[in-house]
Amino acid sequence: MSLAEHQIEVKQQDIFRNEYCRGCESPKLETFLNLGQMPAPNRFLNRAELDQAEPFYPLTVELCNECNLVQLGHVVNPEILFANYVYSPAASKTMIRHFDGLAQIAVARSEAQPNDLVVVPGSNDGTQLKPFSRLGLRVLGVDPAKNLAEIANSEGLNTQVSLFTEEEAKNIKDQHGSAKLITATNVVAHVHDLKDFFKGVTTLLDKDGMFISEFPYLPDLIKKLEFDTIYHEHLTHFALAPYQRLLATHGLTIVDVEKLEVHGGSIRVFAKPGDRQPSGEVESLIATEGAQGLNNISTYQRFSKDVYQVGRDLRSLLESLQDRNYTVAGYGASAKGNILTNFCRLGPEILSGIYDSTPYKQGKFTPGMHLPVLSEGSLLENQPEFSVLFAWNFAEEIISKQREYRKRGGQFIIPIPVPSVVKYVESNGKDSY
Ligand code: TMP
Ligand code: ZN
Repeated sequence: MSLAEHQIEVKQQDIFRNEYCRGCESPKLETFLNLGQMPAPNRFLNRAELDQAEPFYPLTVELCNECNLVQLGHVVNPEILFANYVYSPAASKTMIRHFDGLAQIAVARSEAQPNDLVVVPGSNDGTQLKPFSRLGLRVLGVDPAKNLAEIANSEGLNTQVSLFTEEEAKNIKDQHGSAKLITATNVVAHVHDLKDFFKGVTTLLDKDGMFISEFPYLPDLIKKLEFDTIYHEHLTHFALAPYQRLLATHGLTIVDVEKLEVHGGSIRVFAKPGDRQPSGEVESLIATEGAQGLNNISTYQRFSKDVYQVGRDLRSLLESLQDRNYTVAGYGASAKGNILTNFCRLGPEILSGIYDSTPYKQGKFTPGMHLPVLSEGSLLENQPEFSVLFAWNFAEEIISKQREYRKRGGQFIIPIPVPSVVKYVESNGKDSY
C-alpha cells in the first residue's frame, strides 16, 4: 500500500489549527518549520493493523511574534495521542536517579515538612512519587493514563486518574488541603489550555508553596538540532523569557532556574506565588536568550534549513552503508525515532528493525514506517553492523550496556546534530564516547 493510499482522512474533531498564541493569545503566529504529515508518534501497530489505513497529521512549528513562544501549528485531540500512553520512566535508570534528585532539591528549596502535600501532575507510573513518599511527604499523583495510575496505586502511591485542571485542583484542595509543592516534569509542554492548567496551580498552591516545572529547553533544541523532539504531543517549546511572561500573568514569579542535561538539555524552573525577586541566574539566562537571537524569526528559519540538511545527511549515510552491504538497525523505538524515520523516510528497506527494552512495544511495528520492534536482548543474536541511536537521550546508558555488541564489532550512529558513527575512548576498563 502506498503512503497516500495508507493515510485516512483526518476528521475535523481530531485536529484543529492553532489560531492564537497559547501564551499571550496574540494572532501574530509565523510558521518557520514544516515537518510534513506525520503519524501519532506513539501509536505502535499490531501486525493485523499494518494493512489498515493510518491517520497522519500535519506537523508545523510557529513563533509568536508578540511573546516569542514557539508552538505547534496544529493541535491533535489528546484522546488520540494519549489513549495508550506507553512512556514509563521506571524503565530507565537515568530517570529514576533524576527523580530522586528532584525530590531532594524540591523539599530543600520549598522547606516542605513531613506530611506536607506534594501534588504531581503527569505522575505517570508513580516513579516520581516514590522519592517524595520516602522523604515523608503526603503524595498525590494526577495522571489521565489509567493503566499507569493503576501501577502507581498498586504500590501505595496515591494517584487519581484525571487531567490537571482548575476544576480538579479545586476538588483536590477540598479533599486534601493546599499543596506545599507542585512538581510538573515534562508536563507543561503537553498542555494545550495553559490558562486552565496554571489556574489549577495557583488554586491549589499554598501561598508559601513552590511550583517546580521541568521541560526540554528550546535553546538546546535549536543549538543541537533536536528537531526529532518536535511531535504532536509537545505543543509548546519553551525558552525562559516567554515562560516567565506566561507565569507572571498567573501571579507566579520565577525565583530561580537550573539547567539540566536530561532529554538533550532541559531546565528546572522554581516559581512562587506573588511578587518576588528573581535570582541572577534567571536574569542572566533571559539575557543570553536575547543574545542568541531567540526573539527573531530569522534564527528559526536558519534552524529550519539545518533540519532539512540533517535529514538528507542521515539518509545518505545510511544508504552508503547499505550500498556496502552492511545491516543497519535502529535502537530505541522512541517517539523521536518515529519522527526521524518518517521525516527521512527510513523504512524496512533501510532499517532491519528497532531494538527496544519496552515489552509493550516489542512485536509491534512503528507508526508510519512500520519497522518491526525487536527485543533489546536479540541485538546480540542478530548483530547488525550499525545501530542508529534513536534514543540519543539515553546514549550513555545504552552504549555502556551494549559493550558485548560493540566488542563483536557493532557500531552506534548518533543521528543529530551531525549524523556520525560513535567513537569510543577506553581507559581503566571504562569507556566513554
Ligand atoms: P524516550 O526517549 O521517548 O523516553 O524513548 C526511549 C526509548 O528507548 C524507550 O522506548 C525505551 C528505549 N530504551 C531502550 O531500549 N534501552 C535502554 O537502555 C533505555 C534507557 C531506553
Ligand atoms: Zn504569544
